[in-house]
Amino acid sequence: MTQIVPFSESLVEPAAALVVDRAMTARQAEPLLGPVFEDPAYVTPLFAGVSSKRLGVAAIENGRLAGFLAAFPFEFWGSQVAYVPEWAFAADRADITTAMYREASSLWQQSDRTVHTVTLWANDPDGEAPWHHMGFGRVVIDSLREITLAAMQGKVRIRRAGPEDAETVARFGLALWEYLAGPPVFRIHPQPEGTEAAHTRLGEPARPVWLATKDDEVIGFLSLGPSEGPAPLTGNDLIRCDAAFVVAEHRHTGAGQSLFASAMNWAVEAGLKRLAVDYESANPEASRFWPAVGCRPVMHAVARRLAE
Ligand SMILES: CC(C)(COP(=O)(O)OP(=O)(O)OC[C@H]1O[C@@H](n2cnc3c(N)ncnc32)[C@H](O)[C@@H]1OP(=O)(O)O)[C@@H](O)C(=O)NCCC(=O)NCCS
Repeated sequence: MTQIVPFSESLVEPAAALVVDRAMTARQAEPLLGPVFEDPAYVTPLFAGVSSKRLGVAAIENGRLAGFLAAFPFEFWGSQVAYVPEWAFAADRADITTAMYREASSLWQQSDRTVHTVTLWANDPDGEAPWHHMGFGRVVIDSLREITLAAMQGKVRIRRAGPEDAETVARFGLALWEYLAGPPVFRIHPQPEGTEAAHTRLGEPARPVWLATKDDEVIGFLSLGPSEGPAPLTGNDLIRCDAAFVVAEHRHTGAGQSLFASAMNWAVEAGLKRLAVDYESANPEASRFWPAVGCRPVMHAVARRLAE
């Protein structure tokens, strides 16, 4: 019989053991994932304060921990969110997930959380299925690939942007933001900061930007920068693609692939080994492009939005 109880300090150690176990399985499926979650000494302190937030539950079967679901309060999409990071959920079976969400969602409702979001390992479709069954949709895909030399495509020219390109980079940053804010993606995100911020960025060697030009006209850009997480997607050997955009009439002619190839070739020179990128699953262009250039899903964030 499964008993659902509040998540408490006494459960931290067995919960950390479940996290380590799942992280090892995920890294077997995708060796590019960083090993941080396989170290109990790294995982255990993450639970500090979880029980005092009172947004977590655990499943006990025959005296052992069969799952846990712990959320953090967070503001996002203009709403109060119950946010479950990739290390704060584990369940032995789908029915345990369902039973835990039943209790946890009641706690989340009591603290006015109208968006519920959970980050899951992408290698575990059976673990993801109950979330979809309960009304969660996949929203963001984190993906990874190794950094290798790559070839240019088509007749597009690529050049590294400098501070003198700040206005162009800001304009393309805004075009990307508008694309993502519109249908079918509807991303809720702060607007990019504009020309001054672009100028500062373009002076930073670790945050390079490339421009694609055709007949001397800029038709797209792509940029890289340090990764701030999730933890298995960070490290000195990893860089994140934080933006890519090609104007609609020039898509599917190799501009995106050539921008990506320039970024990869730069990253090889810089001694980097892994590239991360995340994208909205509702973005049809990104869902086509990133897998086509070899980025493999490693995490899926799923979310459910309730009426305010
Ligand atoms: C994602 C994005 C930057 C990709 O750029 P793109 O220029 O369309 O990318 P490419 O043309 O290099 O894409 C590759 C496709 O073109 C084809 N292609 C590549 N070189 C080609 C060439 N010389 N001639 C014809 N087709 C070519 C590829 O085979 C591939 O086709 P496929 O989609 O059928 O697999 C672009 O779609 C975009 O701006 N989307 C909106 C913004 C966005 O979603 N950004 C990503 C946010 S995470």
